[in-house]
Amino acid sequence: MTQVFQGRSLLKESDYTPEELEYLIDFSAHLKDLKRRGIPHHYLENKNICLLFEKTSTRTRAAFTTAAIDLGAHPEYLGINDIQIGKKESVEDTAKVLGRMFDGIEFRGFKQSVVEELAEFSGVPVWNGLTDEWHPTQMLADFLTVKENFGKIQGIKLAYFGDGRNNMANSLLVTGAILGADITICAPESLFPAAEVQEMARKFAEKSGSKLLITDNVDEAAKGADVVYTDVWVSMGEEAQFEERVKLLQPYQVNMELIKKTENDNVIFLHCLPAFHDTETQYGKNIEEQFGVKEMEVTDEVFRSKYARQFDQAENRMHTIKAVMAATLGNLFIPKV
Ligand code: CP
Ligand code: NVA
Repeated sequence: MTQVFQGRSLLKESDYTPEELEYLIDFSAHLKDLKRRGIPHHYLENKNICLLFEKTSTRTRAAFTTAAIDLGAHPEYLGINDIQIGKKESVEDTAKVLGRMFDGIEFRGFKQSVVEELAEFSGVPVWNGLTDEWHPTQMLADFLTVKENFGKIQGIKLAYFGDGRNNMANSLLVTGAILGADITICAPESLFPAAEVQEMARKFAEKSGSKLLITDNVDEAAKGADVVYTDVWVSMGEEAQFEERVKLLQPYQVNMELIKKTENDNVIFLHCLPAFHDTETQYGKNIEEQFGVKEMEVTDEVFRSKYARQFDQAENRMHTIKAVMAATLGNLFIPKV
């Protein structure tokens, strides 16, 4: 019998069926429970895991590292400045070498084409730890957090405020549409999701029954939301855009006024993190000096409020990444979902 996950990569959410994504989310909850109860789950003993990072990371790196160790595998971090890729060696050649030594490869970087090329030429499962286009491992953690809070994903209304055309907005729109959550992207028109991303999401929504809304109207977006979500106004690699974005996105800041507009006392706040909710960071300080803005995409009040679940969400990165690695590399008996 064919196993559905063994040997597969996770390059983007749309490569997986709704059932497969929900299986991974539920498997993550199971692994979280095993971890809490101290029950070993060494599904990847004697495996070597490559963690290849072109961009910086706290959660994704820490989650892949601890998840690999909990699974009995050996993780090895390869930073972009430490290895030959790009400067002296092509992606194809690098993939062929890494695939001879490692059993699985995580990649975080700029271009989606690089993660796809690594998968094509390495011969081992490759997991996308964020590109400019998609952040699929983040989606599993986000929807696990939704399921933990509401007991379901279908019909949950998630409203995202901010840069509507970044990796997070793309992934939330498409993954929500696949899983049957109602997704609103609220952004200024110039930062609406690309037409092809909207089109892809619409096709999935037709099958799942998910309701999608792309709007610049904050009141309309917030009303009735179960989940208020935001991300940084400027993604990694786009730092030159700070001035423009700070001006453009202030009306989309998640503050208590916006939370009240949901008219839902059970609303939760999510953020993939890192977040600019105060001036305790170098960027935060620079923005305050330049523009007099102390809080960007979310206020400190919301970040520390009873609605906030972003640290549960961050923890869930580990359990969900563990599920992906175990399912695709662990020879587990998962014949059909
Ligand atoms: N959410 C997320 O991917 O965090 P890092 O950039 O710290 O990995
Ligand atoms: N949109 C953000 C997500 C960080 C997890 C970025 O790409 O920098």
